[in-house]
Amino acid sequence: RQRSKSRLIQLHNESAEFFHQLVRKAPEAQLARDYLKKRGFNIDSAERWLIGWMPENPSIFLQWAKQKGYTGRELERSGICSLKDQNNPRAGLFVRFRNRLMFPIHNDYGDIIAFSARQLINDPNSGKYINSPETQLFDKSKVFFGLDKARRPISQAKHAILCEGQIDVIALHEQGIQNVIAALGTGTTEKHARILKRYTKNAVLCYDADAAGYKAATRAFKVLVAEEIHVRCVTMPAGEDPDSYVQKFGVDAFKQLVDEAKEFFDYKLDHAANTTNLASIREKSELASELSELAQLVKNKVAQDTIIAKIAARLGTSDSDFRDQIAKAAKKKR
Ligand code: CTP
Ligand code: MN
Ligand code: MN
Ligand code: MN
Ligand code: MN
Repeated sequence: RQRSKSRLIQLHNESAEFFHQLVRKAPEAQLARDYLKKRGFNIDSAERWLIGWMPENPSIFLQWAKQKGYTGRELERSGICSLKDQNNPRAGLFVRFRNRLMFPIHNDYGDIIAFSARQLINDPNSGKYINSPETQLFDKSKVFFGLDKARRPISQAKHAILCEGQIDVIALHEQGIQNVIAALGTGTTEKHARILKRYTKNAVLCYDADAAGYKAATRAFKVLVAEEIHVRCVTMPAGEDPDSYVQKFGVDAFKQLVDEAKEFFDYKLDHAANTTNLASIREKSELASELSELAQLVKNKVAQDTIIAKIAARLGTSDSDFRDQIAKAAKKKR
């Protein structure tokens, strides 16, 4: 089993290099090269992240793999391919990624264990990103994109910046901000929180400034606070993500946003101020119950007291009324 694992890692490492050489040199890869350029990558950054390309017709990859001695079974187990017909292994292999940029996903030790592949051309019939499936190597609920490169910078900075996507991670690293990682696709899980805690107890969430990013921040808060990780949140102009933000406003402006990141509950309350009508009893009580459920998760009593005072003041209620609500939320949970 250990041997088969190291074969799969070798397959990933070599495939990534193969895809990278294709995007650099293949004449057919011009569109992919244009796309990289449009997204702000140059040869050096593409090389550092070993960004590659899988052609629309992947036979060149299959031939290469065969000639390298990889079996169909290994290609299937890697997740790069799947069986065309699950009931008939002889029907051949289907390559999961077509005409996509290939972003290698590494484990903590720097081995490549999966890919996240981006469309070059918008096609609503297929996902913008397709990631490797769960395999012997890849458990997406515990892999952070970029952690192999960010471990040391996170320890040094004493906080980690969490983004949504790999392009955000890469863009920030390339601008010199290296304590940045992303939980891809799934969002942040309990396993992610436990892993992050090995490196830092402080997270700065920098999710996309849209409805999905806002929701993701609250979900991430819940799992992070359970591990007593302190959470602050960056607020970007509506519609931006870290990548688009640094492209538009530059890295110094982004650093300032991180410095000014708000405590999670301030972020929540500020957002609520813009989206909730506190004159409506229904909206206000819904907000109060959501906040009480979140505040209830804060284990440190001193921190919780500060949060209670803050929320009560903003909602125009008394500390003790809000405390009652938290007690109720805690009971409901049990
Ligand atoms: N994602 C995914 N499948 C999708 C869309 C998104 O797995 N169909 C994951 C990807 O890891 C992506 C992250 O969710 O990086 C965030 O999604 P989104 O903000 O839409 O993508 P960006 O990272 O901003 O990508 P881009 O800038 O290339 O549009
Ligand atoms: Mn190289
Ligand atoms: Mn998004
Ligand atoms: Mn983006
Ligand atoms: Mn985004």
